[in-house]
This record gives sequence, C-alpha cells and structure tokens, in this order.
Amino acid sequence: MTQKNKHIFVFGIFAVDLSFYVDKKVKPGETIIAKSSNIGPGGKASNQAISARKLGAPTTLITRLGNDNFNRYANDIWRKEKLFASTKIDKNSPTGMAGIFIDNKTGENSVIVDPGASAQLSIDDFYLQKSKMKKGDIFLTQFEQSSDTTFAVLKEARELGMITIFNPAPFGKISRKAYQFCEIITPNETEAEQITNISLKGKRDVERAVNKIRDLGVEKVIITLGKKGAAFFDGEKISFCPSKKFGKVIDTTGAGDCFNGALASALSFGKDLRQSVEFSCAAAGLSVLKKGTAQSSPTRVELNKALKAT
Ligand code: RIB
Repeated sequence: MTQKNKHIFVFGIFAVDLSFYVDKKVKPGETIIAKSSNIGPGGKASNQAISARKLGAPTTLITRLGNDNFNRYANDIWRKEKLFASTKIDKNSPTGMAGIFIDNKTGENSVIVDPGASAQLSIDDFYLQKSKMKKGDIFLTQFEQSSDTTFAVLKEARELGMITIFNPAPFGKISRKAYQFCEIITPNETEAEQITNISLKGKRDVERAVNKIRDLGVEKVIITLGKKGAAFFDGEKISFCPSKKFGKVIDTTGAGDCFNGALASALSFGKDLRQSVEFSCAAAGLSVLKKGTAQSSPTRVELNKALKAT
C-alpha cells in the first residue's frame, strides 16, 4: 500500500440529479412548493470519480450513458474536471436520472435513482479498460448496477491484484462469495445493519458489525457513521475517527460519495488506512456545506485551506 501514484478505476453509474430543498416530506396525492432546487451531475460512481479527481488523483470512470442531452451534459462535466470516462452509449435507454428531496433544516436527503443506460453495465465495460489496469491500482465500485455485474467486476479486479473498494450502496442481495473479493468495504450505518442484521445503537454494536463483516472474508472494513465520523478495521484493530465540522450543514447528499472518492485518492497517494479515513472524513465534512453531490466535493486546495483554518 505504499507505492505512489496508483491509478483509480471507478465502475458504476452516472445520473443527472434533480434536487429539491423542501420544508416537509411529500404525502401521497400532495403537491408541495420547494424552497429551491438544483440540477447537477450525480450517480454514485461518477460522484466518487469526480471527488477523487478533484483531490488530484488520476482517475478513470467506467459507465454507460443514453443517447440524449444528458449524455452531452455528462461529457461536458467530465471534460471540465479532466476526468477520463470510458462510456458505452445505449441507444435504447435514457441516461440515468435521480430525484432528490433535501430537508431544508437538517440537510438530510431521500433519493430515488433510475440508473437508465447504466443498468446494462456488464463485465464487458470492465474489459474495455482491463489492459490499462495494473496490480496495486485501485478499483472502486458501488451497488447501483446489477448484482451479477458487481460480483463479476469485483472478482476480476481482485484477481488482477488491484486494491478493491466496495461501497455497497444502496445495499442489495449479492453472493456471499463477493465479500472475499473486497480488500476494503465501506457501508454506511444502514448498509452495515443490512449486511449484518445488527442494529447499530452504540460503539459496541459497531464493533460487532465490523467483526461480522470481517468474518465474510473482507480484509479491511470502514463503516461511515454520518456526523459521528467512521469506524474502521485496518487489518489489526478497530478504531474510530470523528467527523470534521466546518460549518452549517446545507446538503448531506453525496457526502458518502465524496468520502469514497477521497478514500481512493488518499490510498493512491500512498497514505495508510488511518490517514486515508481521516482525509476522507475531512473531505466529506466539507462537502455538506454546499448544495449538490459531485458539485459539492472539495478540491485539494479547498480541503488543505479548510484543514489549515481549523
Ligand atoms: O449518493 C448520492 C447519489 O445517489 C446521487 O447523486 C444520485 O444520483 C444517486 O446515485
């Protein structure tokens, strides 16, 4: 884990996020007026790749798009971020799209996502980049594409000797064997509960959950705990990293993506797991101060400046 400048490959979906900032939840049959709205790039994989790239890591995104206006929108964003994207175009499906509702007071969010063209992502999309992947590079994926594809790409990446990071969001069913192909897994509290059937009420429960996930065959476990920070097992012991508070929380959407992108980038710079978790907690802490998902993840300069100021 000490070799410098590893390349990051992020596999998964792109979606256009339509976010609505609201004072209350919408009931069935009800129409409410939003306080404000925002349109921006989303999809967990694209968000994570943009986060890693903004923090300075060489990154490739592997995804699929439809043949529509959102396709051009995605490419413009990636070009601006200098992110290389390997994309297949699906003529029969739209580009992914998400509807997001954010509580104006707390910044908490609810998300509905249609992966659109990315729902068809398969191992073939991975193979298009395979010749560029090297032992020791970083492979990061989530759970917004099919379970079979997720299993297949984790297996291939692990067999190539890459550092595989699985962000199991949103949690779905996957063969138990998939966990053996994860060097690092990064569930949030809800996903960790779904994997382990342990309700995470306190520190002891979190430790039990970490151990239960290790028993599945994962080498290193990170459970993100929102405003409580993150718990992690680095191969030797379980530790807790507090969150970083930089100001008023505006929008928590995409904070997990920012964390995962930052984690991949910190590992690519040769940081160890503890340093990488601290770096990622800080990046995620900064992302919640702004609206949007990928739009809110900080650049390396912004992160260094915020850290110096605390
Ligand atoms: O994690 C937030 C993301 O989940 C949003 O950008 C949305 O598109 C969904 O993929």
